[in-house]
Amino acid sequence: MTQIIARAPSNIALIKYMGKKAIGNLPENPSLSMTLSKLCTFAEVSVVESSKDIETWVPEQPALGKYSESDLMFQVPVLKPEGIEKVLKHVRLLRAKCPEVFSPFQIKPRAGQFHYQLKTANTFPQASGIASSASAFAAVTLSVAGAMASDFSEFQKVYLENMSFRRALASLSRQGSGSSCRSFEGIFVEWDAEATRTVESKLSELAHFVLLISGASKAVSSSEAHVFVKTSRLWEGRVARVEARLAQLKEALIAGDLGRVALISWGEAWEMHSLFHTATFPFSYWEPGTVEALRFLGPFVNSDNPPIVTLDAGPNPHIIVRASDREEWRARLKERFPRFELLEDRAGMGAEVFQA
Ligand code: PMV
Repeated sequence: MTQIIARAPSNIALIKYMGKKAIGNLPENPSLSMTLSKLCTFAEVSVVESSKDIETWVPEQPALGKYSESDLMFQVPVLKPEGIEKVLKHVRLLRAKCPEVFSPFQIKPRAGQFHYQLKTANTFPQASGIASSASAFAAVTLSVAGAMASDFSEFQKVYLENMSFRRALASLSRQGSGSSCRSFEGIFVEWDAEATRTVESKLSELAHFVLLISGASKAVSSSEAHVFVKTSRLWEGRVARVEARLAQLKEALIAGDLGRVALISWGEAWEMHSLFHTATFPFSYWEPGTVEALRFLGPFVNSDNPPIVTLDAGPNPHIIVRASDREEWRARLKERFPRFELLEDRAGMGAEVFQA
């Protein structure tokens, strides 16, 4: 039996993927995110010979390999039957498409018929308000692809040394969950149509917080939001505005200009939520605590040493600051919002894969 483990971090978009084309999980506009580190999914795949090709997901903790001694907390997700089917459908897609993706890199797929048994766990609780689909689909893609190689060490070597291979796997992952394709590398990753690439940055080391206003599951899923935003009058011109904003953000990252990065990200987060608030049938992810936090954070965003503040399709502000300011910000947020839990992470370098 072969056992392959992948660890994939979540990512937080500064320029948002919101609105997709009719097929292939292709975005209407390019996006750019920061890869996280500790907020991640572990996926383990065990491969055994079988009389036919099958795949199952088992609700048990995966093997953690070199991470078994770590202080990370793991939670096995509770998946509804449709959630399980979505993951297994993606595994079937990977089994069909990996041989073609492997071929230019001289990686041989395993020959024969096999049972792929999958186990997954997140380092953040299901009710933490952190979207798990980016990290989960990246981890599932990488573990299944690794398990499909007839020689895993060869697969791992190519994955570590060849960014084109890593990006080909990211493109497969995108077909399961769009934003997962940005979790394969780091720190700043741009996704445009089928391609992902790293964006250079001169920003110093970064710390990341999530102010957990609510962990309740969303009334409007991100799949629904991708559809609803196009009913907003503000959708018109959105793609051109995002493209201009993305170009400005890349310039600011290259220049290491934290002030501009913070202002651009803040404006983009407000614009995405304005799309939600102005859909034909308006909806909002904001809770009273979200508004309170945004009002508190706004003046800091406009200051000399600003935090980067953004929100996903959810109520919880993400706050990114220089690593050297981590303690100061932890104290500030805990003092002002003692009733909300504070999650902490840092910028990271993307998904990794190893043998159990
Ligand atoms: O990957 P999806 O379909 O869950 O969409 C993610 C959408 C946002 O998180 C709101 C924005 C983004 O770019 O990650």
